[in-house]
Amino acid sequence: MTAGRFITFEGGEGAGKSTQLRRLAETLRARGRDVITTREPGGSPGAEQIRGLLVSGDPDRWDGMTEALLHFAARRDHLRSTVWPALEAGKWVLCDRFADSTLAYQGYGHGLPHEAIRDLYRIAVGNFKPDLTLILDLPVETGLARAAGRGGEEDRYEKMKGGFHQRLRDGFLAIAAAEPDRCAVVPADRGEDEVFGAILAVIDERLS
Ligand code: TMP
Repeated sequence: MTAGRFITFEGGEGAGKSTQLRRLAETLRARGRDVITTREPGGSPGAEQIRGLLVSGDPDRWDGMTEALLHFAARRDHLRSTVWPALEAGKWVLCDRFADSTLAYQGYGHGLPHEAIRDLYRIAVGNFKPDLTLILDLPVETGLARAAGRGGEEDRYEKMKGGFHQRLRDGFLAIAAAEPDRCAVVPADRGEDEVFGAILAVIDERLS
């Protein structure tokens, strides 16, 4: 049995993660890989229920710690129900957001101490981490304009103020700088095909 791979996509609002993830799944399947796609918060029945609490309602409905606890509760259920069984079966798992989003949103964005988030990670997830994290990076205004154009109901995070989104971007870049072996920053302020080409290049270089 071939080893599974866990690849996460990260970035601020409107970075194009979901589109790129779908394209990568199609390409990897065409190459004969067994691929599943999933997302956080969510990706299992229990975690999708928790997602409903997180993405709807008032922007200050939860404080940073409550939010982080909900994300890690969802994450643990998602890992146990979906991700770990798939990896054990040798599948490649492509995940739209993972724990770097908690450090970026609740840590850098809402000011929760980073140490607390690392402690929660250790308790809920242990030593497990992604094989590769693609951080799609683009200017805040571009991302928010794209996200606004997309419409939809789940806009609680998009309602947060501009400074919050700048802290997010800075946070993701700091995470990438701290863990360069796991993370690759992909500039996303350009055409979809170009972004995808850059993603494939990273996959071929790091995971083939
Ligand atoms: P999505 O828009 O990529 O579907 O993600 C839903 C929202 O949840 C998004 O605004 C980012 C936020 N989020 C966090 O705040 N912390 C987390 O740990 C995760 C996974 C997502």
